[in-house]
Amino acid sequence: MGAAVPFVHPTAIVEDDVELGPGVKVWHHCHLRSGCRVGAGTQLGKGVFVDSGVVVGARVKAQNHVYLPAGVTVGDDVFLGPAATFTNDVYPRATSDWELTPTTVGRGASVGAGATVVAGRHLGPWCAVGAGSVVTRPVQAFELVAGNPARRLGWVDRAGAVRARGPESDRPAELTAEPADLEPGPDGGW
Ligand SMILES: CC(C)(COP(=O)(O)OP(=O)(O)OC[C@H]1O[C@@H](n2cnc3c(N)ncnc32)[C@H](O)[C@@H]1OP(=O)(O)O)[C@@H](O)C(=O)NCCC(=O)NCCS
Repeated sequence: MGAAVPFVHPTAIVEDDVELGPGVKVWHHCHLRSGCRVGAGTQLGKGVFVDSGVVVGARVKAQNHVYLPAGVTVGDDVFLGPAATFTNDVYPRATSDWELTPTTVGRGASVGAGATVVAGRHLGPWCAVGAGSVVTRPVQAFELVAGNPARRLGWVDRAGAVRARGPESDRPAELTAEPADLEPGPDGGW
């Protein structure tokens, strides 16, 4: 059996040089800019924006209106809730040049609805960000954060269950990223 052909809704805009893996679904009014890559089995809900050069891993679920500007790299198996917003310039001005600060989202991470991630605050593998949060600091692997600014609520496992509260010393030893969680690129983590 051949690999599943990507599905692109007729209202979506997919520019030249976009790479879509097998089984990708691109729903209504998405905009995928030139040079972006979307890994196998990933689903992009309505109105998702993927900027030039952005890499989205395999089996990612990006809900409606997720915003992924240039400089963002999303690992495999990541969940991005509705209207999750990433940024790429820490001190933007309409009147001066744009300065790109990249952000990576580790394998298996979840970002809640309406959360905003300030540029350069990397999200570690299997971490979770609560709905409506503003992430102003890097988030560690398996760390659960929420609020504005986002603060640690505890530690979650790969299924998303809270396994501990408190400082890093409370994090269960099994909640440690594996090498595959940290390798760059789709189908390999970051
Ligand atoms: C963060 C979350 C995972 C819950 O984690 P939790 O540790 O079980 O949180 P609790 O409900 O026990 O609340 C713990 C504290 O965090 C606060 N809190 C929970 N979620 C929060 C959020 N998103 N932002 C700010 N504070 C939050 C609670 O008010 C509570 O504060 P308190 O101790 O002062 O009363 C959940 O609230 C959440 O935001 N999930 C994401 C949902 C989502 O966006 N889904 C997308 C698919 S539609």
